[in-house]
Amino acid sequence: MNQQETIGTPTGIASIGISLPPLALPVEELAKLRGQDPKKYTVGLGCREMALCPEGFGTAELGAEAARRALKRWHGDLDRIGMIAVGTETAVDMSRPLSAWVAEELGLRGAVRSYEVKHACYAGTLALRQALEWKLAGAAAGKAALVIASDVALYALGDPGEPTQGAGAVAMIVDEPRLATLDPMSYPWSEPAFDFWRPVGESFPRVDGKFSLDCYKRAAEHCFGALVDGGDADQILSQFAGLCFHVPFPKMVQKAFYHLAASFGWSEDRAADLFARRVDPFLGWNRMTGNAYTASLWLSVAEALAGRAPGERLAAFSYGSGFGAELLTLTAGPGAAAGEWARDVELDLAARHRLDALGYEQLRGVSLAESA
Ligand code: CAA
Repeated sequence: MNQQETIGTPTGIASIGISLPPLALPVEELAKLRGQDPKKYTVGLGCREMALCPEGFGTAELGAEAARRALKRWHGDLDRIGMIAVGTETAVDMSRPLSAWVAEELGLRGAVRSYEVKHACYAGTLALRQALEWKLAGAAAGKAALVIASDVALYALGDPGEPTQGAGAVAMIVDEPRLATLDPMSYPWSEPAFDFWRPVGESFPRVDGKFSLDCYKRAAEHCFGALVDGGDADQILSQFAGLCFHVPFPKMVQKAFYHLAASFGWSEDRAADLFARRVDPFLGWNRMTGNAYTASLWLSVAEALAGRAPGERLAAFSYGSGFGAELLTLTAGPGAAAGEWARDVELDLAARHRLDALGYEQLRGVSLAESA
């Protein structure tokens, strides 16, 4: 395909691969360690299990496996990849991009633009937008982009964020829209804030918890408000078969959705009905992984896209602390109905080992003497 043919051609997601780590902790086990009522985590935060990585396993391994799975399902050769962009907030180096680790694993080299994107949990979405805009601008010259969102979310022991921990990676090949067309138009919003951040050299994030919830809700209100643009919000949002959100913990999505409903003047009943039908069904994978930062939204989108008929639409709200947000819309393509990538999640969930409270403490390096 020459450059001229690429400009204006519908572009989107041609393939998806997902990878989850081999360990998990049910949040009830964490509640035992922290002396909490488990319902605070299961009902109050809506969490179920957190995916965890063993020693020596992390974002690079997760990202490479997700990419291998996406590439295997793609009807194209590795030498058609002209860009690899990895969104992460758990980088392994301050200088060398995570994409170099993943490309090394895949044997990807040559005329390829390779880089890492950082903007907290929003980075995977930014990488996807850059790939889309690279294709739409005609700069790809017929090549495809490999976009990966990969993260491991860990908090300090005993931190209020600890029950929301998680990990996972989603890889997407941006090319012909076999699975979904990405609409060129999107709705961004950003405001500089310190809601959640990790200073250089520190292992764990610092969080202004309640403030971070307010920032997320404010961003959602601005992005969805721009989409609705003074029109009939009920009618506009009802056109989407799925409304997907970044999932720091499932209850956050519910809070944001009810906040949006109030901003549109909907009744509680209307909000509850739409939430139950268009939002909650696509939080299932997130409940089993916990917060996978950049990958969280794309896990929800992948779950919502699996089994969709061609033409069905989804909305995807991305939020990254700091803060930046963007609302994307996409339309299911002919390959979405088969939902092949759901198999990745089924396989990884079936194979993973569930730790108990003691196993978790050992993994986090708490000595037996300390935990006794
Ligand atoms: N049974 C049922 N519910 C209970 C309960 C019980 N026994 N005990 C408490 N709860 C409820 C509380 O009422 C509360 O619910 P509401 O908010 O609806 O009132 C909920 O459980 C949580 O309780 P707290 O607010 O007391 O919890 P906390 O202050 O200890 O921690 C948190 C909550 C601040 C969100 C914390 O988990 C945190 O810091 N998380 C990380 C930050 C985060 O995820 N922010 C989200 C926006 S930022 C973002 O999206 C980026 C990102 O990925 C991090």
